[in-house]
Amino acid sequence: MSLAKQHFFITGTDTEIGKTFVTSALLLGLAQQGLSTVGMKPIAAGAELLDGVWHNEDVESLIAAASVKVEQQLVVPYLFHTACAPHIAAQRENAQIELPPILRSYGRLCELADVVLVEGVGGFCVPLSAQLSAQMGAQMSTESVAQLTTVDLAQALALPVIMVVGMRLGCINHALLTAQAIAASGLKLHAWVANTVDAEMAYFDENVQALSQHIAAPCLGVIPRIPQLALQTRAQGALAYLDLNFLK
Ligand SMILES: Nc1ncnc2c1ncn2[C@@H]1O[C@H](COP(=O)(O)OP(=O)(O)OP(=O)(O)O)[C@@H](O)[C@H]1O
Ligand SMILES: [Mg+2]
Repeated sequence: MSLAKQHFFITGTDTEIGKTFVTSALLLGLAQQGLSTVGMKPIAAGAELLDGVWHNEDVESLIAAASVKVEQQLVVPYLFHTACAPHIAAQRENAQIELPPILRSYGRLCELADVVLVEGVGGFCVPLSAQLSAQMGAQMSTESVAQLTTVDLAQALALPVIMVVGMRLGCINHALLTAQAIAASGLKLHAWVANTVDAEMAYFDENVQALSQHIAAPCLGVIPRIPQLALQTRAQGALAYLDLNFLK
């Protein structure tokens, strides 16, 4: 049975735990199954100026792994230069992250590819805007202002979620909290991936087992540390550990 056209939101237990890595592997794998694929990183913070163009590693990885080539602006509607939490990056650059531009880009990508994988920023609850009261001074009550977070973004996209668990000490708590937050948001945790962050992690298999017992969604696979080859070659290597049938 072939895989269906479906879009997913990719979240993780933390920053730097392999969301882009796993998303890139999934883009490559689904393309090999005959689906057209594209990745999206709606908000990226941290970019380098080369020959007059701002480059971000995540965005470049997702573009390289996608089977459909699209302009960078669609992949990353909000690209900030400073590498820091997104609400701080936005504040520093006098920008405000809003959902409509992201939803417009996402809608266009859905027209261009069978599968759109949207990578969140950091973990599932990361704020995307500063409290307006803090921006405007202490006279406003904090309750009076809604703060935009990654949860709002995922809800607006209304996508099933794939959670990447960065395997290292503490990941069980982070994974279960993330799964709880996904459930509380009303979204479906479709599947999860165990991605090795700490190759020396003690009781690795027991940790994977505990995660499997507590997470009410299938595990797409357990990815070991892949040797430091070029990123796309590493992502291709990670694919061997993922069972894409669970995406059906
Ligand atoms: N299993 C692995 N084997 C080898 N390298 C890996 C593995 N998982 C992740 N990496 C590398 O670790 C780094 C961090 O991973 P990645 O960029 O995917 O994290 P992230 O969760 O997307 O981070 P961010 O929150 O910044 O978006 C990258 O250089 C990535 O290629
Ligand atoms: Mg990333």
